[in-house]
Amino acid sequence: MEKKQFELVDNILSAEDFIRLKLATGFIERPVHQVELALKNGLFNVSAICDGKVVGMGRLVGDGAMYWYLQEIIVHPEYQGKGIGKSIVNRLLEHIKRTALSETIIDVGLTAVKGKEPFYEKLGFSMTSTGMRQFLEIS
Ligand SMILES: CC(C)(COP(=O)(O)OP(=O)(O)OC[C@H]1O[C@@H](n2cnc3c(N)ncnc32)[C@H](O)[C@@H]1OP(=O)(O)O)[C@@H](O)C(=O)NCCC(=O)NCCS
Repeated sequence: MEKKQFELVDNILSAEDFIRLKLATGFIERPVHQVELALKNGLFNVSAICDGKVVGMGRLVGDGAMYWYLQEIIVHPEYQGKGIGKSIVNRLLEHIKRTALSETIIDVGLTAVKGKEPFYEKLGFSMTSTGMRQFLEIS
């Protein structure tokens, strides 16, 4: 498949681009004020720019010392399969390696959508059998 020229830019992700990319890939819509707070409280984010627009994104959340978690690794369907997702994850991993305390053991996690596990395995992640979560509805 054709490899497109794209640029990765750190920490410019807007709530509008976040919501647009989530919707384009079938995820639920989040309210703008929730996304703005999530982006503000996150550790780091990266946007992939191509054809003058944001076509991919990835985020890091966590404590920046022991635990980092990859979230919203998303490439717009029209731009998938061109190496953008891989570059986003690698940029996030580079950021972790650059900012983590030296001589420490750290934990980098993610929850893969079913079927995307091989994408992450190629990038050094492996499956664990102990993942658990709970979705809370806040009134
Ligand atoms: C998953 C996703 C981010 C991958 O991004 P992408 O830009 O299409 O992936 P890349 O082109 O960078 O692919 C990198 C490598 O992973 C492989 N790959 C990508 N998706 C794969 C899949 N579902 N199964 C197996 N391999 C896959 C590619 O073939 C490529 O292999 P190579 O390095 O040997 O050439 C993208 O498909 C996407 O946004 N999907 C919808 C949203 C989503 O589900 N995100 C994941 C949330 S956990």
